[in-house]
Amino acid sequence: MSKKSFNIKEVKIRPVRADDYKDIHEIMSNPEVALDLGTLPWVKEDEIKNNIEKSKSTERIHLVAEYGGKVIGFASSYYDQDFSRFLTADVAVAVHRDYQNSGVGSCLMEKLIQYIKDFTAILRLELGVFADNENAIKLYKKFGFRQYGRDKMVGLYKGKMEDHIFMSLHIDRKL
Ligand SMILES: CC(C)(COP(=O)(O)OP(=O)(O)OC[C@H]1O[C@@H](n2cnc3c(N)ncnc32)[C@H](O)[C@@H]1OP(=O)(O)O)[C@@H](O)C(=O)NCCC(=O)NCCS
Repeated sequence: MSKKSFNIKEVKIRPVRADDYKDIHEIMSNPEVALDLGTLPWVKEDEIKNNIEKSKSTERIHLVAEYGGKVIGFASSYYDQDFSRFLTADVAVAVHRDYQNSGVGSCLMEKLIQYIKDFTAILRLELGVFADNENAIKLYKKFGFRQYGRDKMVGLYKGKMEDHIFMSLHIDRKL
């Protein structure tokens, strides 16, 4: 993709559809994206397809960014059913390697937070991110996420054991 021809105004953020699995598979098969997500680049198309089809609408918001008829990013929020974390949801976001740093992640996060405010009673969003994943940390900070914890050397990231940073965002709403 040539950055010159890309127009962020033509990106449409919408809920995921069953037939998006191939494009999501392409995003997640990129080794750099997989490393950042903490997933494996050889994830199977069928696993993604099942994941989309099996997740209950009441437990998950799954949005995609569509550009020129192709899905180039996704953002998800999973409701956490653990009673000790009442009204908390986890967040994950990824953008196709060719379209990163062009505002797509920001569009996805903005819409995801809007959906959470409009359609759920969630009070707190949480996520974990590798401490060296500067792009993701910048994106989350931009939307008001703040670090609340850190686990030392939790997983392999780009060949070395890396810390995990935990970030959260309080969803402001009148109760
Ligand atoms: C993290 C990720 C989703 C960000 O999406 P994106 O579309 O690149 O983000 P945006 O273009 O909206 O940029 C958001 C902010 O991060 C910064 N940023 C993003 N990519 C950057 C880069 N390569 N270099 C420098 N800054 C960058 C921008 O400065 C921007 O802030 P600004 O709008 O104030 O300038 C994307 O990099 C990605 O998919 N990474 C792989 C998967 C991943 O790490 N997911 C999160 C796991 S917890």
